Amino acid sequence: MNTDLIEKIRAFVEEECKKPTSKYGYEPFPAHFVPMAEEIVPELADKLNADKEVLMIAAYLHDIGSIVHGRADHHITGAQIAEEKLQE
Ligand SMILES: [Fe+2]
Repeated sequence: MNTDLIEKIRAFVEEECKKPTSKYGYEPFPAHFVPMAEEIVPELADKLNADKEVLMIAAYLHDIGSIVHGRADHHITGAQIAEEKLQE
């Protein structure tokens, strides 16, 4: 598992949540993103025999569109942000 990549993605999402422009403030980082990554991912990885690295990245990025642009179309804006970030 590429822990360096996951750490960078986690840091990026945390920084976005810390920004004053975050649509939901910082709270979603400890209350939603981290539990998704640390509690749900291990369960899902076992249950589905899925790639844990992919699940971790998805757990951190899945609601980034809501944080940056708000909930409307967050599945689309989030995918765009995730694509740009992963291209980096
Ligand atoms: Fe979510």
